[in-house]
Amino acid sequence: MKSLLPSRVFLTLAGVLTLALLTPVAAQPPKKTIKVGFAQTGAESAWRTANTVSMKSEAEKRGIDLKFSDAQGKQENQIRAVRSFITQGVDVIVIAPIVETGWDPVLREAKRAKIPVILTDRTIQTADESLFACFIGSDFYEEGRLAADWLAKFSGGKGNIVELQGTAGSAPANERRKAFGDAVAKYPGLKIIDSQSGDFRRSGGKEVMEAFIKKHGKAINIVYSHNDDMALGAVQAIEEAGLKPGKDITIVAIDAIKEAIEAVAAGKINCTVECSPLFGPKVYDTVAKLLAGQTVPKKAYNKDEVFDAKNAAAALPSRQY
Ligand code: AHR
Repeated sequence: MKSLLPSRVFLTLAGVLTLALLTPVAAQPPKKTIKVGFAQTGAESAWRTANTVSMKSEAEKRGIDLKFSDAQGKQENQIRAVRSFITQGVDVIVIAPIVETGWDPVLREAKRAKIPVILTDRTIQTADESLFACFIGSDFYEEGRLAADWLAKFSGGKGNIVELQGTAGSAPANERRKAFGDAVAKYPGLKIIDSQSGDFRRSGGKEVMEAFIKKHGKAINIVYSHNDDMALGAVQAIEEAGLKPGKDITIVAIDAIKEAIEAVAAGKINCTVECSPLFGPKVYDTVAKLLAGQTVPKKAYNKDEVFDAKNAAAALPSRQY
């Protein structure tokens, strides 16, 4: 059978192929794998687990060699991890600082080794902001303010509040406490009658709430919890005391994890202010920019939403954490 293509086409194709085979290809240097050390606080809450997943999965997607360290809630473990990242010669160090103070010496070591440091999630207190390249996280003060404003409207500016604080000395506990206190002070009918740390843990929230109920009984009208896990622990304590969370006691919390939004939709928690843990993409975009010598904003904040009975159920199907 006669070919439908003219013989000229075959000749041209053959010529192109021969040319391609004979042209020397410039050798590409092998692409360098970026090494990032991430000093995580621990695994105290569902929020933290979602944060770890975001950091690990995004590193994997981008082919980044992530050295991950879980400090189990201890600053000394985090500092040790940062020192080991320096010794391993990582390209960038990322820290979610457990507490706000005590970072300058190890940050100076990283600076001497010319390794940029990104602070993520939590800020630090330092007189020398040149010790870190940038901060990526949420505005904890704003979250506390949003929680207090929501409560003032919902309660009509009246009620006795017990506060479940996060980890002592941490930026979210300090800022959420201060903002809430500042806002509530404008309403003479709202009173914080007790405040204790539950360390951002569900078990801590439950234990502290049990103690509050024992001490104050029915005088408690409102729980303000620095995170959802402690609020969910408080829900258990309230139910075990024969009371109805969300009805007998108003609960306002922070994080907006899926389980808390479900509790809002079920009427057991009244409000949760979002604090997104999904930093992976932003952090590694920043790593790439820093390594390319580009300037990045010193502080970049997420925009967070408020969830209550009006919007919780609608938010559930697309909730990522
Ligand atoms: O730093 C963010 C806080 O840490 C979250 O609100 C809390 O759930 C977490 O453990």
